[in-house]
Amino acid sequence: MIDKITDLLRRVEEFKPKAEAEVEEFRIKILGKKGELNALMEEFKTVSPEMKRELGQKLNNLKNRAIERVNELKTSIKNSSASTSTIGDMSRPGTNDPMGTRHPIAIVKNEILAIFERMGYTVASGPEIEDDWHVFSALNFPPEHPARDMQDTFFIQRNPDILLRTHTSSIQVRTMETKKPPIRVVCPGRVYRNESISYRSHCMFHQVEGLYIDENVSFADLKQSIEYFAKEFFGEQAVIRLRPSYFPFTEPSAEVDVSCVLCGGKGCPVCKHTGWLEIMGCGMVDPNVLESCGIDPKKYTGFAFGMGIERSAMLKYGVKDLRLFFENDVRFLGQFDSAL
Ligand code: PHE
Repeated sequence: MIDKITDLLRRVEEFKPKAEAEVEEFRIKILGKKGELNALMEEFKTVSPEMKRELGQKLNNLKNRAIERVNELKTSIKNSSASTSTIGDMSRPGTNDPMGTRHPIAIVKNEILAIFERMGYTVASGPEIEDDWHVFSALNFPPEHPARDMQDTFFIQRNPDILLRTHTSSIQVRTMETKKPPIRVVCPGRVYRNESISYRSHCMFHQVEGLYIDENVSFADLKQSIEYFAKEFFGEQAVIRLRPSYFPFTEPSAEVDVSCVLCGGKGCPVCKHTGWLEIMGCGMVDPNVLESCGIDPKKYTGFAFGMGIERSAMLKYGVKDLRLFFENDVRFLGQFDSAL
């Protein structure tokens, strides 16, 4: 019987379970009602009285040790499984935090600005809530002149002198008022017009306008600068043409077309089979405007241009609906990426 006790004690000490369920199975097998320990207790009843003392002590020790060992194993398995669940499986693949991307309008704006910065322009900004002077009057829009209707304006009801700018030409006025020529600025920003929202127009959009004033600035300089921009922005194959147009603040004025970026000028649905896409307005700054802003029109001449960023982005990326830029659907926004 001594051998049986020693053997059981050894098995208790050497038992190395992998899961909690195994410990429980082991406990039942050894300490349960019909377990090995109880079987030894039964056998103990039959041993001779002179052996009882020694065997009784050994059996007691075995029982205490077995109970202790079972409890030890249960807590150590619980702890180790708890620690793997917090640290986890170190070899599993990491979770991916999706990176944000720049908005396509910001990408195109930065691209346009970078091209003009290479030509020596600096970037200027101004307020979106403007007064009549900076948006209209200084730019040679006479009061009640129908040209004011060209850009349906949002006025502040209580004070019609305050309005949301309809173009960033107001920044050019502010620049001319505060700086002396030579002036070379590009003016990016958000503008507002009371227009119905459709796939091609919105009541809010973005512009980049530009202004160059110095002695002897000519229409040839304007054309050359626009041509350089078009080739940088749309590619070396881009060709431009100028069509006569009208703006109150430039004279002469022109509309700039670029050869269709999709069909290369052959004609397709995007260019409405004309081979050309309208990209901006431009012209020589009207002497009245220079005068209004405190610049001597006898000494200085200049040119100005202005383009819509959404329109340029639509042409560059082949986006057919302008509203997509403002819906904030990440499936759309995530498709544009750039170093700029
Ligand atoms: N301000 C004009 C617009 O918003 C664009 C423009 C700028 C035209 C400068 C000519 C010269 O449509």
